[in-house]
Amino acid sequence: MTTTAPAPTAGIPVGPGLSMFDPIFVGIDEFGQPVYITLAYRNLLAGGEPGGGKSGLLNCIAAHAALSVDSRLVLLDGKLVELGQWEDSADAFIGPDITAALDVLRRLQQVMNNRYAWLRAHGRRKVTALDNLSVITVLVDEIAFYSATIGSKQEQEEFVALLRDLVARGRAAGIPVVAATQRPSFDIIPTSLRDLFGYRAAFRCTTPNSSNIVLGHGWAEQGYSATDIAPTNQGAAYLIAEGGIPRRIKVAYLNDSQIAGIADYAAWIRRPGTLTTPTDTTGEWEMAA
Ligand SMILES: Nc1ncnc2c1ncn2[C@@H]1O[C@H](COP(=O)(O)OP(=O)(O)OP(=O)(O)O)[C@@H](O)[C@H]1O
Ligand SMILES: [Mg+2]
Repeated sequence: MTTTAPAPTAGIPVGPGLSMFDPIFVGIDEFGQPVYITLAYRNLLAGGEPGGGKSGLLNCIAAHAALSVDSRLVLLDGKLVELGQWEDSADAFIGPDITAALDVLRRLQQVMNNRYAWLRAHGRRKVTALDNLSVITVLVDEIAFYSATIGSKQEQEEFVALLRDLVARGRAAGIPVVAATQRPSFDIIPTSLRDLFGYRAAFRCTTPNSSNIVLGHGWAEQGYSATDIAPTNQGAAYLIAEGGIPRRIKVAYLNDSQIAGIADYAAWIRRPGTLTTPTDTTGEWEMAA
């Protein structure tokens, strides 16, 4: 007799499934109030010095995305260990391999183009929660690793061009990008790319200039500089949302064993044949391969 295995981490307090269209809890502000972001139509850039807490934020977002039944995950992680625990919940997990990174970005570009063709045919401008299309959340841990460290100059340039196109056009097609960099400098994050990210989080920076590169020009001079975050205050950041003013936050941190538990549960709710959401049936992602 076959029995259905119980959920591996039955104690995890989540509902039958979250949605990527739901607000995502990312931490608290300086008054202790919860801070939420809505990623379905916005991209997020996290910048700051090594050890500042960028990967902590990416993991917090990955947890929500993995538990969202209308989300697919595409992960690019040069270090393998920052997002590695979500591999079983992801459609693609790319390590230090520029060829694989370019392949997956080209595929995403194709999906994005198909979605725009579909939207146009329906006289629409953006996907919504009712469209039977999954949100494809793309997480890139360390832009500079792919755009300036590995691969040939030509491959790096193609990576930047594809990433820029996704960041510029992906939102309305339900393909948000969340990217981190420990090198907030003009060569890695030119202003034209930075401004495409609707959310920007500056973790501790060493100079007001690098804080400005993440948050936007002039914020350091107005008193919002990530240089004033203590090195011991990991996970603290200034978060700015399009059109707003920077807000000091402390990211909700998941330690390795908490991530293991949530990732295990997320992989379980995503096991083949169990997702009842349209993500199983559209086949668009497979078709783009
Ligand atoms: N929100 C947080 N609350 C408490 N501690 C945190 C938080 N975020 C990070 N830390 C601590 O700081 C360490 C470094 O964080 P994290 O790996 O996220 O930094 P990073 O900015 O991604 O660094 P790198 O640029 O080297 O990848 C973590 O291992 C953890 O101990
Ligand atoms: Mg990191």
